[in-house]
Amino acid sequence: MSKILVTSALPYINGVPHLGHMVGCLLPSDIYARYMRMKGNEVLYIAGTDEHGTTSEVGAMKERMDVQAYCDMYHARHAKTYKDFNLSFDFFGRTSSEQNKEITYHIFEQLDKNGFIDERVVKQVYSIDDGMFLADRYIIGTCPHCGYEKARGDQCENCTKVLEPTELINPKSAVSGSTRLEVRETKHLFLNLPKLEKRLGEWIKTKEPFWPDVAYTIAQKWLKEGLQERCITRDLKWGFPVNKPGYEDKVFYVWFDAPIGYIGITKQWADEKPAERSWKNWWLDAKDVRHVEFMGKDNVPYHSITFPATLLGTGENWTQVDYLKGMSYLTYEGGKFSKSEKRGIFAEDAVKEFPADYWRYWLMSNAPEGSDSSFTFDLFAGVVNKDLNGVLGNFVSRVLKMTSSKIGDAVPAGGEMTSAEKELTAVLQTRINDYFRYMDEMEFRKAMNELRAIWVEGNNYISITEPWTVIKTDSARAAAILRVCINLIRIFAILSAPVMPTIAAVMLQKLGLSPEDMPSLTGFDVTKELDALAPGHPFVVGETLFERITPERVNELKQKYGSKK
Ligand code: 2FM
Ligand code: ZN
Repeated sequence: MSKILVTSALPYINGVPHLGHMVGCLLPSDIYARYMRMKGNEVLYIAGTDEHGTTSEVGAMKERMDVQAYCDMYHARHAKTYKDFNLSFDFFGRTSSEQNKEITYHIFEQLDKNGFIDERVVKQVYSIDDGMFLADRYIIGTCPHCGYEKARGDQCENCTKVLEPTELINPKSAVSGSTRLEVRETKHLFLNLPKLEKRLGEWIKTKEPFWPDVAYTIAQKWLKEGLQERCITRDLKWGFPVNKPGYEDKVFYVWFDAPIGYIGITKQWADEKPAERSWKNWWLDAKDVRHVEFMGKDNVPYHSITFPATLLGTGENWTQVDYLKGMSYLTYEGGKFSKSEKRGIFAEDAVKEFPADYWRYWLMSNAPEGSDSSFTFDLFAGVVNKDLNGVLGNFVSRVLKMTSSKIGDAVPAGGEMTSAEKELTAVLQTRINDYFRYMDEMEFRKAMNELRAIWVEGNNYISITEPWTVIKTDSARAAAILRVCINLIRIFAILSAPVMPTIAAVMLQKLGLSPEDMPSLTGFDVTKELDALAPGHPFVVGETLFERITPERVNELKQKYGSKK
């Protein structure tokens, strides 16, 4: 048994997650955490909302809410959505917690003490009417290159040129529209990454064989180009006030305290039951912890460079990332998900349309792993109808109905096994080993392909053995075949549990079992598992597992959630 710390990138509090967010880090981390628990490991699975920064302040202002109340409201909304999606966090916390503040302060003090924090005076745009410094993207004006009138201070969306806010013609505040802007000098703290570059390079080398190409390449590219100092403070109100004299009116930059949030959230979890739980056992001088992080590609530099360097600079022995799974993006009906344009299905609506497991299976089978992938309702309905309803659902209902009507509502007794079962056992064992290998390697599309192929083997077996014909002449042999098939239902439920926990529980329930009865996946032996349910073990046929999605329903969904533009 190993200790595995699983973390998902912490979603920004503002706005609600769409399917792209779900598949980009949350869902794969959950499937991995569930799978690792089922293998008998000690897993701690942590996530939470990323709450600080300008976007929260502006979001709250737009909704005319106090920023704390705004974060409380959205935190609850995120938490509910993830619960509805069956995400099995050990704790879903918040980066704004007292525990995170305490750890952020400690890490900052260590960095400062060790000489990795520098003071600099910088020039920034101040909005007199808003009473605040504006982040570059909150200054809008006319692009000096193409004349686009809504260019942002960091980049023109129209011609894609990178801009300085001072280049904009007729600049105004995106917060209030005010034009009373001026450039002011302000003092900030910087993390001296160049001083940490050597140590970081050495540390990354130790990870070389373990990191997926994409993370390693990105980290190497940053190192090759040379690291820059990074400003870790901001002139804002919503954040942790900087714990250094002369900086009391400033807060830490959101990207400074967000990754520390993994640790702060673990402490939130531990503080709930201090007698049983220890956050240090996972994070500080922790022994035998393997830390696996899931995130979108855009987060990789922060988790392979900035955050590891921050931890190295403390001179303390913090748990660092061991494996970094970076995901690409999911598109919606050929375009981008957009809340403001009402395009795309958001997670809280998705679970109102279909059970979470349908989404979980579709998203993981089509996960944007190597490259981006695309969601369309046609593709979604195709997979639900073919893989879930056609292959898995059909096998389960066919087997249970046939046994019930021809023999009775219990696992049938008697009959001889033949070479058909020998072949089935061999092919299943190979496929299951491959399925586990892909799950271990976090190759989720391949794993889901293999899972489907395992279900298909059930259908192949029943087509070859034809119990409905055999029963007419050899009822004992038909009993043996159906006994194997009912045991297959149990095996399919166990293997499907990491990705479809609710459906798996329903399948087990038909067999009078519960998820607690599932064996460890370590050493999973098909020969033994095909014998698990003995003759006489009762079952119920119950309801069908999946609903078919009709073409009419697909059209309705496209209308409701927006189609191609
Ligand atoms: O990209 C994002 O959604 C960020 N909120 C991720 C932060 S991950 C971690 F570092 F906290
Ligand atoms: Zn432009």
